[in-house]
Amino acid sequence: MSSTLALLLVLLGTLCSFIYFFRTPNHHKDRRKLPPGPAPFPIIGNLYMLGKLPHQSLHHLAKTHGPIMSIKLGYVPTIVVSSPEAAELFLRVHDVVFASRPKVQSAEYLTCGAKGLGFTEYGSYWRTVRKWCVLHLLSASKVECFAPVRKAEMGSLVELVRKKAAAGETLNLSQQIGQIIEAIMSKVIFGRCMDAEIEFKPLIEDAMYLAGVFNLSDYVPFLAPFDLQGIKRRLKRTSNGLHAIFDKLIDEHERGSKNIEEKKSYTDFFHVMVSLLNTPINPNKEEQPYIIGRENIKAILSDMVAASFETTATAIEWTFSELLRHPRVMASLQQELESVAGRNRMIEESDLPKLTYLDMVIKESFRLHPVAPLLVPHQSTQDITVNGYFIPKKSRILVNAWSIGRDHKVWSDNAEEFFPERFEDSNIDLRGHDFQLIPFGTGRRGCPGMQLGLTTTRLIIAQLVHCFAWELPDGISPEELDMTEKFGLTLPRANNLLAMPTYRLVA
Ligand code: HEM
Repeated sequence: MSSTLALLLVLLGTLCSFIYFFRTPNHHKDRRKLPPGPAPFPIIGNLYMLGKLPHQSLHHLAKTHGPIMSIKLGYVPTIVVSSPEAAELFLRVHDVVFASRPKVQSAEYLTCGAKGLGFTEYGSYWRTVRKWCVLHLLSASKVECFAPVRKAEMGSLVELVRKKAAAGETLNLSQQIGQIIEAIMSKVIFGRCMDAEIEFKPLIEDAMYLAGVFNLSDYVPFLAPFDLQGIKRRLKRTSNGLHAIFDKLIDEHERGSKNIEEKKSYTDFFHVMVSLLNTPINPNKEEQPYIIGRENIKAILSDMVAASFETTATAIEWTFSELLRHPRVMASLQQELESVAGRNRMIEESDLPKLTYLDMVIKESFRLHPVAPLLVPHQSTQDITVNGYFIPKKSRILVNAWSIGRDHKVWSDNAEEFFPERFEDSNIDLRGHDFQLIPFGTGRRGCPGMQLGLTTTRLIIAQLVHCFAWELPDGISPEELDMTEKFGLTLPRANNLLAMPTYRLVA
């Protein structure tokens, strides 16, 4: 939000606070105790406190107000959760109450009125779609089926980087990582490479930003028609772009006009989804059947593309950034890779279970750089008391994974430091059982794509670190590497990561 707009809203808020105060003499009728938090302005509440990096602003506010903090985003009561103990209360103990998602403008446009998975309210539609996505795309056995796709794409990337290395050129790692993820995920979701004219990346980047940004229209509904931040305009443009691609792919599929069947060892997700078109969602139910239409399919595809492209690329970029900033860690990782695969061959997926230091490096990167810093907002479905605090129905719940990863009580005084060895004698894992480290969330709304995301992240990091030695360009020292974040639903690097490779294998 621009500072002028923020100032205007503060002035408006101050004015309204007087009106509100005089018109409602007993405005503290509800004496149930909300969690502590900063005092909100009327109308805008605490929105003006979020700044450009809301996860960091909320982290600092929680230091004053505590790990279960109450704020108001416009008219929306919001609870910010910032410690492992608090996260366990919301995501395990009372998971079922907080397993819904708020209705937001971004989902309205990007997923045709929340007909996808990630922003869909808790209930039977969400349950069915999640089951389809897991069964046909994200289960452990499906992820294993896609191994040849990862191997082929990885081979092409290594060849390309080798050429750059031979020419002594600097590589735009952010761009290359984005491209390989797009190629892998396109093949596993659609069963094919995308035509050159189909460009998902800029649309997905925009979608992630728009889905994460604090949109005034969601919080102060009477301002929605003015679209003060221009978000609705951008949402229309982005969703039109995405849906046009999906329409084209569905049309092609229906006409059978293009030979889109590549030889592959699995049935792709797109194929399965399109075969559900015009069928009842639950054929066994006798009441009025809900028929799956194009909008449902496009919304589900939107979610799969958005959830897989940007998340995995962001995780890899941050891990690589930390490795470049810490040559000691890079060297230790290369040593481990060499001890497993030698210098005569590339890393195979079957090597991954033996790479324990790699796992520690990736955990440490997720701790400091959770891809979705506030997870995806949850919403409560009923009034509830948690830890003695009253949480009203339809509260928004933001779990600050970025803050939890920096909690000094858990991670000791060197919490800010990138130090993978902290996991050496520790059982803390990132799969959602240990609330100190929840980069994939946990519970009912936890990430169903964790296996796909983790396997891809591990393989790409291992391969690039094993095959090449890396240096920062232009004499930049490791300490000088820019680590600025760009806030959205995901938290990518603000600037591209550049590095110079040297091929280091013998063969
Ligand atoms: C490194 C990669 C990834 C990370 C760090 C990640 C992280 C997350 C997080 C934090 C959430 C929200 C959990 C919550 O709200 O409690 C989430 C949800 C989700 N993720 Fe992932 N994710 C990754 C990769 C993937 C992939 C590859 C897919 C595959 C399509 C995927 C699909 C989803 C979906 C569909 C949801 C919404 C689930 C629901 O609301 O029921 N993710 N992810």
